[in-house]
Amino acid sequence: MRRALVIFPLLLLTLLALALHQVWTLLALLVVDGRADEIPRASLPALDPLKAAPATDTRRQIIPKILHQTYINASIPLVWQDAQQSCIDLHPERDGWEYRLWTDASALQFIRAEYPWFRPTFEGYRYPIQRADAIRYFVLSHYGGIYLDLDDGCNRPLTPLLVYPAFVRRTLPTGISNDAMGAVPGHPFFVAVTKQLERYDRSWILPYITVMGSTGPLFLSVMWRHWTASGQNVGDGSDGGRIRIIFPDEYNGNPWSFFTHHLGNSWHGADVQFIFWLSRNWLLVTLLGFAIAISLLLTGWFAYRRYFVRGGDAPKWKSASFRQRLPFWRRVSGRKEYELANRHEV
Ligand SMILES: *[C@@H]1O[C@H](CO)[C@@H](O)[C@H](O)[C@H]1NC(C)=O
Repeated sequence: MRRALVIFPLLLLTLLALALHQVWTLLALLVVDGRADEIPRASLPALDPLKAAPATDTRRQIIPKILHQTYINASIPLVWQDAQQSCIDLHPERDGWEYRLWTDASALQFIRAEYPWFRPTFEGYRYPIQRADAIRYFVLSHYGGIYLDLDDGCNRPLTPLLVYPAFVRRTLPTGISNDAMGAVPGHPFFVAVTKQLERYDRSWILPYITVMGSTGPLFLSVMWRHWTASGQNVGDGSDGGRIRIIFPDEYNGNPWSFFTHHLGNSWHGADVQFIFWLSRNWLLVTLLGFAIAISLLLTGWFAYRRYFVRGGDAPKWKSASFRQRLPFWRRVSGRKEYELANRHEV
């Protein structure tokens, strides 16, 4: 009896440890806030038109002045044309900016020419948005510059961000987004991200989760967590590995924020409704999760006791011969219970 009582909690602990190991990075993302890498407002030039003094920022700009965007082809839908134009207008050629729109055709051509090893994965992606996600990591790692989603409009020039080796946008409550990012060419983080894409090309049944986890913001957040945990998030020069973070105040909704958000997620499917419903009802979902876990635990414990712990006046499935046929278990001589046998003896 005693031994059996010990084995059950041990089994549980092992299961729990395995489960924890699987989701450890995700749990860590809940507590890692990236504040240490924040791009503080104080470091940005004021955005008061009356005080539109020449920029006092003397730090060297290391990110190249290239704006990257992606779409199926060159016919940008009407809903995004204002956003697109606002960014082009604030980053004109006369100031040294270059605008690059990556279409399905030019993206594939680029992968074929520069990263042929990635072509099978790239062409094999089930959802077009996965290609749109992947290509942005490759062009940033290859050419450097700033990548922006088409539904992000610009509210002020992004020039003050060019002094950092790389930057991403923080999302709440957890993780980072891949909709607005910048980097110097060959930034070690984005190089590492491109190399991990193949490994993360898995299906998670629901399209939304598959896209998020294989190429999207969840994938990038996991990469970011691994990057900061591995101590490579250091160095502020053009060869540094540090990733700076734009927090929501600097991102959206304030007069001085960098971006404006325009409606229109291009790829959300029916399963997203369900996931958004889950996140709106997170308390209910959490309680339900606990209830299910506790029921499973109790069921497991009762089943375990019934089959392996109690002896005595038992129906036939409780008989010694039945138990002796169970794998890995054997009768302990002189006692009424069973213990795990050495696997080599089975
Ligand atoms: C671009 O793609 C859209 C959406 O698939 C399509 O409706 C449109 O005809 C395409 N335009 C060109 C020029 O191929």
